[in-house]
Amino acid sequence: MAYKVVLVAAARPNFMKIAPLIHSMRAHFPQMTPILVHTGQHYDPNMSQTFFDQLEIPKPDINLEIGKGTHAQQTGQTMIAFEQFLSEVCPDAVVVVGDVNATLACSLVAAKQGVLVAHVEAGLRSFDRTMPEEINRLATDAISDILYTPSPDASEQLRKEGVPEERIVFVGNIMIDTLFAQRERASALTVAQDLGLTARFGLVTLHRPSNVDHPETFTGIMEALSQISQELPLVFPVHPRTEKILNALDLDLSQIRRISPLGYLEMLNLTAQAQVVLTDSGGLQEETTALGVPCVTIRENTERPITITEGTNRLAGTSKIGVLTAYQAAQQPKQGRIPQFWDGQTARRINQHLFDTLQARGSRL
Ligand code: UD1
Repeated sequence: MAYKVVLVAAARPNFMKIAPLIHSMRAHFPQMTPILVHTGQHYDPNMSQTFFDQLEIPKPDINLEIGKGTHAQQTGQTMIAFEQFLSEVCPDAVVVVGDVNATLACSLVAAKQGVLVAHVEAGLRSFDRTMPEEINRLATDAISDILYTPSPDASEQLRKEGVPEERIVFVGNIMIDTLFAQRERASALTVAQDLGLTARFGLVTLHRPSNVDHPETFTGIMEALSQISQELPLVFPVHPRTEKILNALDLDLSQIRRISPLGYLEMLNLTAQAQVVLTDSGGLQEETTALGVPCVTIRENTERPITITEGTNRLAGTSKIGVLTAYQAAQQPKQGRIPQFWDGQTARRINQHLFDTLQARGSRL
């Protein structure tokens, strides 16, 4: 008998974090059986299935099919469905990643059932509680048994919050495992050429409610991007949330190449080649740092400060002038370095620690 480890995936940014954990478990830890739960928060093929195909993630053992809804609906429905599933499976551990609604919902359920909860990407803080993700991060970290951190600042933050030392494990950045594993495949694609981008270009993504749900803020950001696009062609894969809002506003975006959300490999291909990435995504701040590509983060804060102190990231704020100023500054590329343990081995470190912990708790083998 092996340890049963439930892995939770829900939304696009989770899939590249779950993939290396499953692959490493299957290849190197036969004593742990991964059980994959997809909560169904993201359901469009290009927000979910494409990532399963490209990253060779096995078909989930169950899809809870939660879909869209308010935060309370998504969180509550996920909890109810996950509780039922967990009672049937009786796993030895539940692993949650990142900061989406399912991260919080599933960690709460598992903690109340007395199952060991491990949070991958723990300790990140924007100190901005208007962000739904910040609430998810704070609450998930508060109830998780093991906190796997991506960077020393995240470990330090948990210490400041009074988390006992033995719960904090610095393992590095799990996303970068996938990035390094897929970089070669991605570079073989011809995405830019297929889009007619023959020379320099910038890559844009925007989906944070604080940016796109406020017409004044969003208009200012889009005006800045429109101005930048006069000198640097911009390609903008548009998230479904943003698509709805763009269609409702009367903006002249004729110079900006808007496309549907891309798969992981296509996005990595463009990111690696871009002159600059302008984004409000958390993952892209990290991926650009790993790739040495200049990044302009269109937010007032970041929970990933190491991408600024060590990497290639710059914080622009969300005003038109802030975006333009940060874009200008990005013309002088920062000499970033890749942070410690962003080395493609994070999944292995997590699985080894998890296995040792399960063994120490009492053997089911
Ligand atoms: C969620 C995460 C966010 C993450 C982002 C990545 C939370 C609180 N937010 O935000 O941290 O950065 O995913 O994308 O968990 N929609 C579709 N098809 C889909 C998924 C969503 O059309 O496959 C539309 C729906 O209308 C939905 C809206 O997009 O209402 C927003 O989706 P939702 O999952 O609620 O939040 P995201 O903004 O994607």
